[in-house]
Amino acid sequence: MSNIPRITSEEDQILLDKESRYCSFGDTVHYIEPPRIFSRCEGSYVYDTNDQAYLDLQMWYSAVNFGYANPRLNNALKQQIDTLPQIASQYLHKGKIELSEMIAVDAKKKFGMDGRVHFNVGGSQSIEDSLKVVRNASNGKSLMFAFEGGYHGRTLGASSITSSYRYRRRYGHFGERAQFIPFPYHFRGPKGMTKEEYGSYCVKQFARLFETEYNGVWDPKTQQCEYAAFYVEPIQGTGGYVIPPMNFYSELKQVLDQHGILMVVDEIQMGFYRTGKLWSIEHFDVKPDVLVFGKALTNGLNPLGGIWAREELINPGIFPPGSTHSTFASNPLGTAVGLEMFKMTSEVDYGAMVMAKGKYFLAGLEDLKKRYKIVGDVDGLGLALRMEICGEDGFTPDKAKLDEMVEEGMKGDIEIDGKRLGLILDVGGYYKNVITLAPSLEISYPEIDLAIALLDRLLHRVTKK
Ligand SMILES: Cc1ncc(COP(=O)(O)O)c(C=O)c1O
Repeated sequence: MSNIPRITSEEDQILLDKESRYCSFGDTVHYIEPPRIFSRCEGSYVYDTNDQAYLDLQMWYSAVNFGYANPRLNNALKQQIDTLPQIASQYLHKGKIELSEMIAVDAKKKFGMDGRVHFNVGGSQSIEDSLKVVRNASNGKSLMFAFEGGYHGRTLGASSITSSYRYRRRYGHFGERAQFIPFPYHFRGPKGMTKEEYGSYCVKQFARLFETEYNGVWDPKTQQCEYAAFYVEPIQGTGGYVIPPMNFYSELKQVLDQHGILMVVDEIQMGFYRTGKLWSIEHFDVKPDVLVFGKALTNGLNPLGGIWAREELINPGIFPPGSTHSTFASNPLGTAVGLEMFKMTSEVDYGAMVMAKGKYFLAGLEDLKKRYKIVGDVDGLGLALRMEICGEDGFTPDKAKLDEMVEEGMKGDIEIDGKRLGLILDVGGYYKNVITLAPSLEISYPEIDLAIALLDRLLHRVTKK
């Protein structure tokens, strides 16, 4: 494939040999060979074992929204280590209660509903908990709706409502099953419709399912749907940072409410200001029934995730003590960082800051689109941005070109203003031809300029061949 040097150092080679001998590989994918080994990180940069700097435009799949080694959040963790670093989850600690309060009070303000919070470890496990909540509320229904292009994790339950069959092929089913509904991916939708028209069209197609019992999901006599909930990522993450029209979710929610189907909003990737709001669903004027979060709650310092659900679904009478549990759920290190993150983001207008930086970044991407035919589409909401790499027609997906860009970025040899840099990009999209850009929300304007200049160099390299 590429001419990325085989070995970065003798020490790295020894580690890679050990990896190939002792690591299972079941929990990772090497997008480039050999994979880089990193030794430190700060702000928007990670550094490999040769201390080569790479500007990171994916921030651990949006888990590190507040910059690598954020001093304030790191300090919250250090302080908690020195006070109450561990305690069994049957006992209480202040952090768990205050963080739950913070999330529930905010939800009441925004959605006008009482609700409760509980924690688990990681995004997928929190999705599992949400599945228990909705199955419980629907007398054990195990069928869900989810979107084509959707991603909800890789545990057995979460992967059964994730669109890629690839993640299920070897393992069969364990209960849950989703029917996947088309998402309003306007760039690749039918021609001749505005984005909003296409959003309404998708909702109408979905609503057809309820017109007669012969469409397979609805019993008009009992007014019962066979499906318990619809799982949505307001902005698709792994699906390629696809931003639906603003009318979409409110129209969809009407259909769901009419048929007793719950809406579960997966904010694991887009939550915590990635799109300029605490929750990305806030852009769409919709009230979720259940909301799932993870990743950036702790800026990636601790795998804390969790769910908020409205009171009727999660009060202790309905969802009794012990309905879910993990030894490490609501661990005090995670809740301490989560609390500090909430305090930090309430002290400045994070939303306005992210929207302004996102607008500036998107203008740079639009300029690249004008200059390179292979950039088929660019879009963004806050600092969730996308760039779709295509053939010369600006439409046919070109995964190979994007892979080349990723490899070129990882060489760490781009010279800008006398400095050698690498660029870290993440790949997403239905055709794996989308650069899903999730820079640090703390990125500076000069760093955004640098990001655009680095993307420019990569596009130049892969188009001049
Ligand atoms: C939208 C979404 N849901 C769920 C998950 C799964 O979270 P985790 O990887 O923490 O299990 C992810 C992870 O990328 C995600 O982006």
